[in-house]
Amino acid sequence: MKQITIETSQGNYPVKIGYNILHHVKDVLTHKQRILVITDENVSKYHLETLKTALEPYAFTCFTLSNQPELDKTLIRYQKLLDFAIKEGFDRHLTVLAFGGGAVGDFAGFFAATYKRGVNFYQIPTTLLAHDSSVGGKVALNHPPIKNIIGSFYQPELVLYDLQFLKTLPYEEIQSGFGELIKHDLLRDGSLVKSQINLDELYNNQELLMDYLYQAILTKYNYIKTDIYDQLGMRQYLNLGHTLGHGIEVIYDMTHGEAILLGTCFDLFLHDENWGLELFNQFKNWGYFKQPLQLDEKSLLTVLRHDKKNEQDRLIFISLKDYGKPYAIQLNDEEFSRLLDKFNNVVMK
Ligand SMILES: NC(=O)c1ccc[n+]([C@@H]2O[C@H](COP(=O)([O-])OP(=O)(O)OC[C@H]3O[C@@H](n4cnc5c(N)ncnc54)[C@H](O)[C@@H]3O)[C@@H](O)[C@H]2O)c1
Ligand SMILES: [Zn+2]
Repeated sequence: MKQITIETSQGNYPVKIGYNILHHVKDVLTHKQRILVITDENVSKYHLETLKTALEPYAFTCFTLSNQPELDKTLIRYQKLLDFAIKEGFDRHLTVLAFGGGAVGDFAGFFAATYKRGVNFYQIPTTLLAHDSSVGGKVALNHPPIKNIIGSFYQPELVLYDLQFLKTLPYEEIQSGFGELIKHDLLRDGSLVKSQINLDELYNNQELLMDYLYQAILTKYNYIKTDIYDQLGMRQYLNLGHTLGHGIEVIYDMTHGEAILLGTCFDLFLHDENWGLELFNQFKNWGYFKQPLQLDEKSLLTVLRHDKKNEQDRLIFISLKDYGKPYAIQLNDEEFSRLLDKFNNVVMK
């Protein structure tokens, strides 16, 4: 097992990463609290029994989102949970356990942050992508069509990342999660990208996967620790790939992780055309970008204009001077259109 201690002004908390480490959840529980597990139908189907066993002798109450928890990250579901919490008589000593991917974590965290002005909150992430979402304290709900528009910062008291749960993830969720892992690798030293290891091999190699996830969380921590509240300091660099990636995700049929990898190719292309092209080819070898695609600048611009990452008349992209050396590039609409056209012709041809 590996451990990282996250230090914030809201308090410090450990992130524990390993296989079959779930029993550590009992280190933080006491018999006085009621426990509310927030999960979704998929996670519940595969893993709730395991959680039950690990929590014994503690009993808990469950609130279960659907098998598309992203669609449940809404005020409507939040109100349903409030009704449930009041009926159950939960008081401010309640302990909320988020048991699921990023959607469950964001939803449960938002509830924990706001119910009775804040109750105990623990994260038990179950997706690859949640190595990112479970650390850093951002919690949120969607107000369709805008994602994460209602939110807050609320740090968990423990993140228990038991990698045994990853084995039931569907292929596209694995691929999407690796997208964020690759992003963190580029923001660190590029060792994963340089190794060119096959991603299936990595997924099946417990030691190596644990190590890369540990490194990725450590990298995220290094970027957030001086900028916990995301005041356009270091934390903005975690948006590598996300400006264009967000637009691609909204318009084209791509997972978040794949879209941000394509966005990353564009961001690196802005710094060095060959580097952008090289990475595009490597990501293709890794099984991404199977569908031929030409990016449509008009529809992308419309989405990017509404993105909170951008300023009034400037779009902000995060690129790299080298591995681990991010910087921001600002483009106006014409510059963006011209460079996207070039990217289409040189990289996505
Ligand atoms: N708070 C943050 O800092 C932050 C950062 C990145 C992303 N996010 C949020 O995270 C969400 C995306 O996270 P995600 O990719 O984990 O998505 P998700 O929570 O929607 O999970 C993806 C799918 O996998 C299923 N699933 C989860 N665990 C499983 C398991 N072990 N086995 C089988 N199926 C499983 C879920 O039911 C769901 O269908 C988005 O809502 C995004 O906004 C938040
Ligand atoms: Zn992301």
